[in-house]
Amino acid sequence: MANKIESILEPWHDLTGKVVFVTGASSGIGKEFCLDLARAGCKIIASARRIHLLEPLCDEINRMKISGESEPETIPVRAFAVQLDVSADEATIMAAVQKAWDAFGHIDTLINNAGISGQPQNTMEFEEAQWNYIYRTNVTGSWLVAKHVCRHMHDAKRGGSVINISSIAGVNRVLMRGGIAYASSKAAVNTMTRVMALELADNNIRVNCINPGIFKTEITQGLLEKNWFDDLVMKTVPMQTLGTINPGLTSLARYLIHDSSLYVTGSCFIVDAGTSLVALPIFSSL
Ligand SMILES: NC(=O)c1ccc[n+]([C@@H]2O[C@H](COP(=O)([O-])OP(=O)(O)OC[C@H]3O[C@@H](n4cnc5c(N)ncnc54)[C@H](OP(=O)(O)O)[C@@H]3O)[C@@H](O)[C@H]2O)c1
Repeated sequence: MANKIESILEPWHDLTGKVVFVTGASSGIGKEFCLDLARAGCKIIASARRIHLLEPLCDEINRMKISGESEPETIPVRAFAVQLDVSADEATIMAAVQKAWDAFGHIDTLINNAGISGQPQNTMEFEEAQWNYIYRTNVTGSWLVAKHVCRHMHDAKRGGSVINISSIAGVNRVLMRGGIAYASSKAAVNTMTRVMALELADNNIRVNCINPGIFKTEITQGLLEKNWFDDLVMKTVPMQTLGTINPGLTSLARYLIHDSSLYVTGSCFIVDAGTSLVALPIFSSL
């Protein structure tokens, strides 16, 4: 009964057959996306630089027992690893996207999640090389991956969904000290999302972005370990908790993959337990 109600009210619990390409899949948010979406029935192309972390992730997904599926005679291929440095040149990115596309013959959704924050430093100290590397990864890399995935989607006339993972650091009302390149690169991702949505709408390709607040991953580890951090969350985060990647971010990703979000494009969703509603500076280590 519960499953029947769930499938009517929340149909995005079942994403059987959707092919999802996730960048930055070797850790944190990207890895959780891969595991959760595989449980929902998606086929996963997991991508990052650290291939030694992607292979065990794909093995874990390929061994998963998906509810409703009968016991297979051979291990089904549900996940495939593609090594890619998104800060690489366009030809390298194009070749990796081709490999990703060929893994299952098409891609329904790209989750453009790979990203870095860099070392916190104020404007007068910030190094140009660091600025360029952050932009190359967070903005140029996301754009080039989307460019080549969307070209395939267009040629295949299948439509598709692109989900860019930005940050509340890129939202106008949030300002962060020490993160000039990170914050402005994420603001650029939000703008890029809307321009891509406008340009690709008539190809039936939807483009949205998610602006996470603070979630526990490699990027935020140092911050979350500070002994004052929990106290600060209780006092400043309206919901008094930061939540967890699953279901905090995974539930929204599932919705944006599913056809229920057919008319949702150009939207930037904030998932931060209300953090960005409060007019306090957030932390430079994000
Ligand atoms: N955690 C948070 O609180 C938070 C908040 C707001 C936004 N975000 C955003 O969420 C996304 C994921 O971050 P996370 O928190 O999950 O951090 P994370 O655990 O450090 O994951 C970052 C991922 O990006 C990949 N990556 C970094 N540089 C790359 C490159 N040049 N080429 C390909 N992959 C690259 C890393 O893989 P390899 O090192 O193996 O390449 C890793 O899988 C980022 O875009 C981040 O800005 C996170």
